[in-house]
Amino acid sequence: MDLLLFVLLLVAPAHSWLSLEDWGSGNVEGSVGEFGQCVCNVFLPDTSFPADRMEYMQITSNQLSVNVKLQINKISSLKVQLDVLLSSLSNLTARVEILESGPDKYIKLDFELLRIELREFEVLVTQLKASLNSSSPAFESLYTEIRNMSLIVDQLENYDRSNLEVIRIEFAKLQRKLEKCQDDQDDFSNAEIGTCKHGGILRIGKPIINQLNADLSASYKYGGWGKDSKPLPGSENMYWYSGYSDTLVSRITQYSDYYNLIMRQAFRTHELYVYNRYDWRGTGNNYVVRENTLYYQYRSPFAMGKFNMTSATPTYKVIPKASAQFSYHYSANQNLDFAADESGLWITYVTEESNGTLVLGKINEQSFEIKEVWQTSVFKQSVTNAFMICGVLYVTRSVDTETEEIFYTYDTNKNKESYVSIPFEKFQDFYVYLDYNPTDQRIYMFNNGYYVYYNIKFKVV
Ligand SMILES: *[C@@H]1O[C@H](CO)[C@@H](O)[C@H](O)[C@H]1NC(C)=O
Ligand SMILES: *[C@@H]1O[C@H](CO)[C@@H](O)[C@H](O)[C@H]1NC(C)=O
Ligand SMILES: *[C@@H]1O[C@H](CO)[C@@H](O)[C@H](O)[C@H]1NC(C)=O
Ligand SMILES: *[C@@H]1O[C@H](CO)[C@@H](O)[C@H](O)[C@H]1NC(C)=O
Ligand SMILES: *[C@@H]1O[C@H](CO)[C@@H](O)[C@H](O)[C@H]1NC(C)=O
Repeated sequence: MDLLLFVLLLVAPAHSWLSLEDWGSGNVEGSVGEFGQCVCNVFLPDTSFPADRMEYMQITSNQLSVNVKLQINKISSLKVQLDVLLSSLSNLTARVEILESGPDKYIKLDFELLRIELREFEVLVTQLKASLNSSSPAFESLYTEIRNMSLIVDQLENYDRSNLEVIRIEFAKLQRKLEKCQDDQDDFSNAEIGTCKHGGILRIGKPIINQLNADLSASYKYGGWGKDSKPLPGSENMYWYSGYSDTLVSRITQYSDYYNLIMRQAFRTHELYVYNRYDWRGTGNNYVVRENTLYYQYRSPFAMGKFNMTSATPTYKVIPKASAQFSYHYSANQNLDFAADESGLWITYVTEESNGTLVLGKINEQSFEIKEVWQTSVFKQSVTNAFMICGVLYVTRSVDTETEEIFYTYDTNKNKESYVSIPFEKFQDFYVYLDYNPTDQRIYMFNNGYYVYYNIKFKVV
């Protein structure tokens, strides 16, 4: 897919459809959205359009058509994934340099690949259009762009090196503009990272959809993704992903940085199950990664599990009173939910005595034991998920297929519970994983197989 991006960017300087031209440095303000997020008027087919997703769209009819529409809306509302663009840009720049210096046969090869990608993409858009019965202008223009790009690839092939130099300079300009836009987006959180000098969540930004999971499988609806909540030195940029077609947790994959996550180039995959050798599998997808260790619900025995990805060793500890009967609303087997925040590692679950209401525990990471518990008054079965920020438990429920709501908080600093209403938008209805990460103050969601995250606006105190 980055070949495709390559073409788009090559075309950018010559054609105004990529309205980056308009982003004079004074103009960036104008493209900042409702919550201060960067709204970039770039129409760019990217990795959110892989062919497998096409397949998925065609398989089922009605429900899928709704999902697809939702997805297309996201895409055609032109909320471009700056992160993806940025990481691709540096790769693309490097590739143009290679083109510049490389022997002709490599250039030819690259253009041939570009053509193939474009053709595939053309087919894809045609199919998408047909399956949606959509006459959206965004589609029409996308279609035209692809046709145009094919022409331009042909022309480019005959260009000489000086033209490539021009393109390289345009890349550099683009990159600076995107970085500026990126900075604006990153300014979204209004609290200093690592501190708790805020009054909790004021609101949650729009879902930022990265892409389909690394297994490229729309049936992998059960999973999670994110960053280490307390990274070891040198692993600050690391991302992890785990996914499967049912609630079993049998594998976790690590990526050195965001670029490699998007490119699906893992540096390590840990199998938690090898037939006839060992079975360290978990279940429920409510894990967190911390100090390069996966904390998860161990399947057998039912316990808190801990898989140290540095030493590749598992341990577990049974919580004597925890019940395996109560799960969250969307999925089975979500009995133990781990969370990490500025103050450490947490777990929520239900006990026999709590009559189905959530219990929150603080974990001592050294001894891997629950050292303190708080009893909440929310019934787990109405809950869709929960996460922690600065010692405050945030509990969510589903409002409708497009909306989720934080409806309850428990502040362990004040031993105070509150019923609240902080709605936020979902990309797709179903999700199994929702966790805050204190290192970037984002909320990560695994949303029906897609990587999604949210920025947060905090209350000022
Ligand atoms: C860019 O990414 C591609 C595909 O992921 C990779 O094969 C290639 O080596 C990268 N190019 C550079 C110059 O980093
Ligand atoms: C597409 O939409 C048009 C107008 O709404 C309708 O007349 C046509 O039958 C639809 N076609 C398909 C294949 O659903
Ligand atoms: C596509 O190319 C045609 C012919 O070269 C041109 O008229 C048109 O403006 C281009 N479309 C876009 C959206 O760039
Ligand atoms: C993981 O294992 C490494 C190597 O044995 C050890 O140094 C580290 O403390 C362990 N991490 C956790 C969180 O237990
Ligand atoms: C659960 O129900 C029992 C019996 O009705 C009651 O004594 C107990 O206080 C309840 N526990 C909680 C946490 O509500």
